[in-house]
Amino acid sequence: MDKKKVTAPGLAEMKARGEKISVLTAYDYAMGKILDEAELDVALVGDSLGRVVLGLDNELKVTMEDMIRHCAAVSRGVTRALLACDMPFLSYQISEEEAVRNAGRLVQEGNAEAVKLEGGEHMVPTIRRIINAGIPVIGHLGLVPQSVNVLGGLRKRVGKDVAGAEKLKKDALLLQDAGVSAMVLEAIPDALAKEISESLEVPTIGIGAGPDCDGQVLVTHDLLSLFDKFKPSFVKQYADLWQTMLKAFTEYSNEVKDGKFPERK
Ligand code: KIV
Repeated sequence: MDKKKVTAPGLAEMKARGEKISVLTAYDYAMGKILDEAELDVALVGDSLGRVVLGLDNELKVTMEDMIRHCAAVSRGVTRALLACDMPFLSYQISEEEAVRNAGRLVQEGNAEAVKLEGGEHMVPTIRRIINAGIPVIGHLGLVPQSVNVLGGLRKRVGKDVAGAEKLKKDALLLQDAGVSAMVLEAIPDALAKEISESLEVPTIGIGAGPDCDGQVLVTHDLLSLFDKFKPSFVKQYADLWQTMLKAFTEYSNEVKDGKFPERK
C-alpha cells in the first residue's frame, strides 16, 4: 500500500483513481498512532469525543478547548493520514469571522490539516471564508448530530422523502461548488448516497449510508465495542475491547487482592 502523505486535495485524486477512502475517528495519541500505522487515510477528531470519551449525552457541550487538546494529542501520533478536526457546536454558526478564527485555532493550536463542519446551503458563505483563509473544509450532510434538538433525536434516517432527498442533492452540489475537500453523508438512504456520490467529483464519506460512497467513516469506539450506551445498527464490530479490558482489569484486581501480583521475582 502507498505510504504517501494523504492531503486534502489528494482525497479528490483518490476518488478520480477509484480508490476508496478509509476514515476513523481518533481522540488521543495512541489511537492516532495505531490508526496511522494501519494506514487509514484520514484521522478524524470527531466531536463524538463528547459522548465516547467525555461521557456527555451528546455533542453539544464539546468545546473548542476540548477539540484543540485532543486534536493536538492525535497529531503527535499521526504522520501519514490527513488529520481532520470537527468544529464544535457554536464555533462556526455565530459569524463567519468567528468561524475563520476558530478554524484557524484548530490548525494553529490543534495541528489540524482540515476542519469538518455540519450543514448545507446556509453554511456555504462560511465554508468559502474558511477555505479562502487557507484551511481545507470537509462538509457533513444528512444526520447532523449538532442539530439533535431540531431533528428530534439521532436514531433516524434523513432524506427518505422526495423533498428531503432533493434538498440533500442540492446541498451536496453547493458544498462541492464552495470547494469542500470531501463531505460526510450520515444516515441517508443507500440509493440516495449512491446518486449523490456519482454526481460529484468531490468524494463522499459515508456513515450509515451504504456501500456506494467514495469512502467510509466509523466512530472508532463503536467499531472496537468500547462504548456501552448506543450502537448504531450499521456498525460492524471488529473487536470487543470492552470485554477484553473488563477481563484484564478484573484479573489484575483479583491478583492484587490475592497477593499474586507482583511476584517476588
Ligand atoms: O463526530 C464524529 O465522530 C463524526 C463522524 C461520525 C463522521 O462526525
